[in-house]
Amino acid sequence: MILVELPSKEASGAIALEASELYRRRSAFLPIDAVPRLSPELLREGRPGIAGVRAHLTEGAHAAQTIVQKLSQVPLAPFITSGYIAGLRAYATRGAALLEDELADLNAHHNDDTSAEAVRCCVTGDELLLLGHTLQDRYFGIRRVPDITWGQLAAQVCSTAEAVLIDLPFTCIDFDETIAITNALSHAWGILGNEPPKEQATISQPLTVNGSVEQIWRQAWSWSSETESFARTVAEYRWITGHHFLNLCFLFCRSALRRATEEMGRQKVERAAKAVDQATVFLRGTTAAMRYAGNFPAHIYNTFTRPSMDKVGRAHPFGFSGTQNWDYAAFRSTMQALTAEVEENRGPLREPDYAQLLKALQVFRETYLADMEQHVLIAASKVSTDASLMQKAARRGMPSSCSMKEKSGTEILRDLAALRREELNW
Ligand code: HEM
Repeated sequence: MILVELPSKEASGAIALEASELYRRRSAFLPIDAVPRLSPELLREGRPGIAGVRAHLTEGAHAAQTIVQKLSQVPLAPFITSGYIAGLRAYATRGAALLEDELADLNAHHNDDTSAEAVRCCVTGDELLLLGHTLQDRYFGIRRVPDITWGQLAAQVCSTAEAVLIDLPFTCIDFDETIAITNALSHAWGILGNEPPKEQATISQPLTVNGSVEQIWRQAWSWSSETESFARTVAEYRWITGHHFLNLCFLFCRSALRRATEEMGRQKVERAAKAVDQATVFLRGTTAAMRYAGNFPAHIYNTFTRPSMDKVGRAHPFGFSGTQNWDYAAFRSTMQALTAEVEENRGPLREPDYAQLLKALQVFRETYLADMEQHVLIAASKVSTDASLMQKAARRGMPSSCSMKEKSGTEILRDLAALRREELNW
């Protein structure tokens, strides 16, 4: 038998950090509406280093795209992939450091109350809907910022990217999901840097990282990973941070869908096709975010994560459900606008000039269907046949004599998967 001797905490002095200290919860500051454009005023005012930040994000976008291409072509072993991910993490950390003031400003001015007020302004007359969105945001530590600026959003993207990328090598995630996360990040940085990401011949210098941060994480894992309290800390971190990344992907996805709808309305077919392709990258990113968020054992989900959502859901007559996610609701209504535009163009879409757009729409649809199929599998592995939290909430509101047949979360999702097939019939 080969025994691996790990260094003792005492021997390693300065890097003797408990893993739970590394997995600290952060809040995410997200806009109510769209991705803001980089406005010329921002550049004219000469805010310190804004051009440098843009250049940094663009460089990060190209590096991420290069990694996407590499991972897409050869099956790299996880310890090699983690080297690339560490390099990407360094871009995110540097971006967050460059935009430190923006993050401090968000922290100082936005809290749960201002966030609820921002949602209230957009949801008029439906108190239950408002309550659902507010509870979700509060649970996941999301604060809504009306009129978010480019700098604030860029800071949030870097901060969330850093939080996901530092932990990604410690997950058991499939490499297709790593590609999808990296690709979504590449496009988000490309949009913020105002330049589409492209593959480079070689990966430029900043990708060579000083591995000390990653080294500390590895060390901490080797000390703490088999305790229940550590498992809960990691699960909570993934559950929350994964939802932050998911919501960012929905945000970028709906901005791309909105652009696609506008371009189709103007008969700019090629531009519409490109916008749909970009929406697909971000939609695929939401699936990968879901896989990352749920990357922990069912036991922890059932004894810790699920009860924590159930507890919050008691404040709502319908309980807690993913459908109360603000960004998901906004994504769905944007998608319905695109569907109406596709309906308008049913005839032309069959013409050869529209072939590229039709193909893009078909790939988007396929990604949308596969997303729900993945969701079914996650629910099946986590809760199997147990009734969904919503059904449990409904049961609580009924007399005990009432015999209501309860559906499991998995069954509900399976029904939704069937509905999705009809919903996008292009
Ligand atoms: C905004 C995105 C999401 C939406 C719209 C959504 C929607 C739903 C719906 C409708 C259900 C069925 C039962 C219910 O209403 O609660 C469900 C269940 C479930 N979803 Fe999601 N979901 C989302 C995000 C996620 C993510 C990111 C994960 C991460 C793994 C996830 C994992 C699960 C699990 C494990 C269940 C079973 C719930 C239980 O009964 O404990 N969902 N989701």
